[in-house]
Amino acid sequence: MTVPEGNIGRVLVGSAELATRVRELGAQITEDYAGRSPLLVGVLKGAFVFMSDLAREIRLPVEMDFMAVSSYGVSTKSSGVVRIVKDLDVDIAGRDVLLVEDIVDSGSTLRYLLRLLAERKPASLEVCALLVRAGARTDDIAYVGFSIPDDFVVGYGLDVAEHYRELSSISVFEPANSASLPP
Ligand code: PRP
Repeated sequence: MTVPEGNIGRVLVGSAELATRVRELGAQITEDYAGRSPLLVGVLKGAFVFMSDLAREIRLPVEMDFMAVSSYGVSTKSSGVVRIVKDLDVDIAGRDVLLVEDIVDSGSTLRYLLRLLAERKPASLEVCALLVRAGARTDDIAYVGFSIPDDFVVGYGLDVAEHYRELSSISVFEPANSASLPP
């Protein structure tokens, strides 16, 4: 895929701030899940960097699995119509499931996944989201890293056209023209 036209703009959350917050989230999860072995479910692809760091800050024997989903089409994203591209490998019945997301934007992916996973009868089902859009509903999200403004952000797992996931900070992407941004 070609590199999107535009620039990496200001840093919204720097790598040190990310590390501190991830450590705090890991400590809180360690306390909340004491005596249990949560199953971390990462939503690909964006969550892989956050989940990798988070897992290493949880002082419990965690297990990990991943799902990949995609919306049926850009125009339907907010409708909550989501398709499973890769399902879980494990049965979650009776498990303490912690869904790990990089960003909750419209919330439609999260709503769909929570409904789907709840039907599989986990012992518990909670959400840990690194980023949540300011103003988004957070009642379903037990662990929030940062609330962020409505900028297009990249880095630490987040991409624009599959680029910049590897950046260690989260920055604003400034497109050369608005047509370079996914709607
Ligand atoms: C992002 C993010 C969430 C979803 C959130 O994934 O990882 O899964 O969008 O958006 P929503 O709240 O509006 O539903 P994306 O579709 O960009 O795929 P990626 O993780 O592979 O980059």
